[in-house]
Amino acid sequence: MSEPNTAEVTLTETPGEVLTGQRIVVLDFGSQYAQLIARRVREQKVYCQILRHDITAERLAELAPKGIILSGGPASVYETGAPRCDPGLFRLGIPVLGICYGMQLSCDALGGKVDNTPSREYGPAKCVINKPESLFEGLPGEIDVWMSHGDQISSVSDEFEPLAHTSSCPFAAIRHRELPVFGIQFHPEVTHTPLGGMLLENFVRKVCGCEPTWELSDFAEATISNIRAQVGQRRVICGLSGGVDSSVVAALLYRAIGPQLSCILIDNGLLRKDEQTMVIREFTEHFKTDLHVVHAEDRFLETLDGISEPQEKRRRIGHAFIDCFKGEALKIDDAHFLAQGTLYPDVIESGADPDGPAATIKLHHNVGGLPEELGFELIEPLRDLFKDEVRRLGIELGLPESLVWRHPFPGPGLAVRCLGEVTRENLDVLREADAIVVSEIQAAGLYRETSQAFAVLLPVQSVGVMGDARTYDNAIAIRSVNTNDFMTADWSRLPYELLARMSSRIINEVKGVNRVCYDISSKPPATIEWE
Ligand code: XMP
Repeated sequence: MSEPNTAEVTLTETPGEVLTGQRIVVLDFGSQYAQLIARRVREQKVYCQILRHDITAERLAELAPKGIILSGGPASVYETGAPRCDPGLFRLGIPVLGICYGMQLSCDALGGKVDNTPSREYGPAKCVINKPESLFEGLPGEIDVWMSHGDQISSVSDEFEPLAHTSSCPFAAIRHRELPVFGIQFHPEVTHTPLGGMLLENFVRKVCGCEPTWELSDFAEATISNIRAQVGQRRVICGLSGGVDSSVVAALLYRAIGPQLSCILIDNGLLRKDEQTMVIREFTEHFKTDLHVVHAEDRFLETLDGISEPQEKRRRIGHAFIDCFKGEALKIDDAHFLAQGTLYPDVIESGADPDGPAATIKLHHNVGGLPEELGFELIEPLRDLFKDEVRRLGIELGLPESLVWRHPFPGPGLAVRCLGEVTRENLDVLREADAIVVSEIQAAGLYRETSQAFAVLLPVQSVGVMGDARTYDNAIAIRSVNTNDFMTADWSRLPYELLARMSSRIINEVKGVNRVCYDISSKPPATIEWE
């Protein structure tokens, strides 16, 4: 991991800080919950950023956050190589809240003793609050909390005051008597700690003194003026995919620079039913953008001809996409910028922020290469936002709910759901079946509850009987999953009646299908997509 070069890094002024002049930072010690903590703080309308755990106290003083949260983490504080923070940060006068591992670090740095004999605790616990003040102001005397730790604090010096305990954890919450340093052993950010939001609110508002001023509508205004200043009189190109991120980027840019925006939609023939029509309608009638639709179905089918191997399909689709996009972009004379829907989790996970955590190894599928290939300057107006914030921003900008809440769709589209060889006929069958799956889930009121639901065309013929005739047709698999992060997922427990309706509609209405199955595999070991 490279050291941050504090001398060279300039202060990043995001629209969030420009507006509020205040922020909370989370130092990430490898917790699976670091992003969740940041989102919970933002729910309090306070801007929150995730930073690397070894950021120097000097750099933190420069950034001047109103509060510092030390995340949990998988390590034990006494392990060799365990991630540490700069102990100087406890003496900056900025309030610190250590969560789990973060609490143990604070204690270790300031005179507590951490017990690393096995005291693992994982699951719900009742936490008794000694004094309902500071962090616990307004909370009842006993709260349900979620514990997930290997070590715990076994004793603390007189400088610390215990604030809460559970039956197995004598120091479930502590505070330093002189410094504004707090520690909690449990996880306030997870839903299994139902009053955790109030605890974080107390820290952010009462202890750190933040005002709840960070609003998405103000963020939009600030971003719009930033874009205007950055772009000047020049032209921006934005690729539209039908997904929420690119649509919100385009809507935001349209508000900022109107006629200087050109959008490109590549119709690769691999989109969902009516997707193209919906996007075209939205970006020509509602947002009257200069929209270039590239009809490239034949080009994509040609490159996929005879190809069954999934990664080869992805590679060919990626190349065809770049070719088509480039061809169209080069026709737009004065184009200078390329807008992209990069989100905050991408920024954090790619290690792109010099103050942010190191890159995490994550399997991602995206084709990439577009900006470098084209040589445009990048604009990424969503790089400070989480996905749920992007959706809310989309609604604020006037995009329809149907677009903003659309389930994710892979870049290679229906090609990776049409198993084996991709043909025009198979794509048509799949598109119809998929539209039935989605519309039935919507009609049952389950679209928001499920994370991703779709149909897959299996290249297997099986025997059936329709009327008096024997059929020998394709099978469709229905896939519906529930997930928070798409890294793991469980299959949705859809009601039998709903599955029955989907099955009978698909078999009756989609020519070429005589059998429907429901995929009951979780991820891992299966993946969400079939290819
Ligand atoms: P898997 O199938 O890996 O999918 O469990 C996880 C999430 O990623 C999406 N996905 C893709 N997205 N290009 C994309 O842009 C791809 O090649 C691709 N493959 C899978 C998938 O739809 C799910 O949301």
